[in-house]
Amino acid sequence: MNLDRTDAPRVYLETYGCQMNIADSETIRAILRRAGYAWVKRPEDADAILINTCAIREHAEERVLGRLGDLARLKHRRPEIKLGLLGCMAQHNRAALVEQAPYLDLVAGPDSYRRLPELLGRAAFDPAVDVRLDRGETYSGIAPDHSGGVRAYVTVMRGCDKFCAFCVVPYVRGRERSLAPADVIAQVREVAARGAKEVVLLGQTVNAYRVGDAGFAELLRMIARVEGIERIRFTSPHPADMRDEVIDAMASEPKVQPYLHLPVQSGSDRVLSAMDRGYTVGEYLDLVARLRRAIPALALSTDIIVGFHGEDDRDFDATLELMRTVGYDSAFTFKYSLREHTRAFKLGDTVSDDEKARRLAAAIALQERISLERNRAAVGATFAALVEGPARRGEGMLAGKTPQFKTAVFPATSGIGVGDTVMVRVESATAHSLRCSLA
Ligand code: 5AD
Ligand code: SF4
Repeated sequence: MNLDRTDAPRVYLETYGCQMNIADSETIRAILRRAGYAWVKRPEDADAILINTCAIREHAEERVLGRLGDLARLKHRRPEIKLGLLGCMAQHNRAALVEQAPYLDLVAGPDSYRRLPELLGRAAFDPAVDVRLDRGETYSGIAPDHSGGVRAYVTVMRGCDKFCAFCVVPYVRGRERSLAPADVIAQVREVAARGAKEVVLLGQTVNAYRVGDAGFAELLRMIARVEGIERIRFTSPHPADMRDEVIDAMASEPKVQPYLHLPVQSGSDRVLSAMDRGYTVGEYLDLVARLRRAIPALALSTDIIVGFHGEDDRDFDATLELMRTVGYDSAFTFKYSLREHTRAFKLGDTVSDDEKARRLAAAIALQERISLERNRAAVGATFAALVEGPARRGEGMLAGKTPQFKTAVFPATSGIGVGDTVMVRVESATAHSLRCSLA
């Protein structure tokens, strides 16, 4: 179908949640573009409105339900608009959604996107629901519509086999499966050809990547050979899958950047065991020590859940202690949210919401202090910053990332543009960014 035709059906897509969802939306765009759909930037202009959703915490679902209410009013005025809910919430709530939100024309889970054109067609008559999980779906052969820019995301594996007691991901995204190395390399080459300088490999447990003999370490080394790509990052690795070969590849491939997001979730062995995380605090600290020995410039960030079932004051203190011991560069902290289908769901909550809020505030305050301390320690040092564009704040300033994935802000200077790598010297620091001069 000719895309310039004015009668091409118009689609609007909104994305919630993690980088994986942002990457999935790029795949959805590619699938629908091939099927002859045109894209619009406002829901008012669309024939079909799709929202790609997140189910990781109740709060994420509430936001989507609120937004869905707004869009339903739009549909009330123009009933011919098709309204579709995609992604993890579609999978999580399934049939209940069609009952709760009868105005939905389409409900499609993360493994159903190839069938979207057909489902959208079918939705003309009845609500079309497709939430079959497909062990084999990797969207191989579909080159996502990358949004452009210096950084590109490439999904290398999907799903999760870990079944942490609190987490809904294995239920909504299904079993672990990896994209063949040749497919990954083809996508990386393509983003490089479009001008991306940095590639971020994505997967729910990205370092569990494996196809035949090729594990994650081999994949990193293959990608390092792609011309044009200057920096390689990946997220999120699972501590239990962080093998020595991966650490070696990080240490010896100069393109692989010295930054790792290594979710710990808790600093208490009792809680880690109840969460079924597959490591103890001691093992995690040993991993951090091995990583830092191999990659001295390494920056670390983490995810922490406060108020999991059974977490008492002593457990929480152990989490704060672990945060101090590791000295993370940054941390994402969450109040535990009970998720239906998970193993911990039937155990219920033992920590009140007020107490969760108190623990969350304490963890955030501690991390602010640690981040500031670590960034201040960088004052006077020089880093290679990959320029991403104008700084969000500060007239005449540019922003870029250091190898450690810290935001460096420095004066715009003629001859320096997006995609360039410049040497900068840190002049001052906040907990969230580095003020720099050109070195
Ligand atoms: N409640 C709170 N946080 C959660 N996460 C995953 N499931 C839950 C939940 N039920 C957090 C974990 C994970 C991050 C992506 O979201 O910290 O690493
Ligand atoms: Fe969820 Fe655990 Fe899988 Fe991460 S490893 S996606 S926290 S089940």
